[in-house]
Amino acid sequence: MNTMSSLIIASDHAGFALKEDLIAHLTDKGQSVRDLGPSSDAAVDYPEYAHAACFEILAAGSLGILVCGTGIGMSIAANRHPGIRAALCTYEFQARAARQHNNANILCLAARVSAPPLARTLVDAFLAASFTGGRHQRRLALIDPA
Ligand code: RB5
Repeated sequence: MNTMSSLIIASDHAGFALKEDLIAHLTDKGQSVRDLGPSSDAAVDYPEYAHAACFEILAAGSLGILVCGTGIGMSIAANRHPGIRAALCTYEFQARAARQHNNANILCLAARVSAPPLARTLVDAFLAASFTGGRHQRRLALIDPA
């Protein structure tokens, strides 16, 4: 569990209920969480929340969670930011490998795919894992097109 800095979390309306569930789960475990909203399930536009979260994550050097219905819109928007590596995960293995292999700094979740018990498992796996470096660092350095 990464307790060094606040974990940043945001969603859109489709991800709101899962975001609230995850905040309760994380705070129960002693993880500091900074909630960037929204504060209800009224319709909002996911890119606005993705971009706000990315600016904070890049400034703080922290990790984040973005939740929308599919996880796809959040991941597309987040990955427009240089320095953001946002991973949409639906299996525990992916959530762990996203940190170990890809040094992902954002976990994107699909509220319409991953039910809360699985989503909690994904979050726990993501936060417990660390980047392993080595050959993975070399590959990360090759991701941005020359
Ligand atoms: C909202 O209906 C939905 O489009 C959004 O949550 C997300 O899945 C977009 O990628």
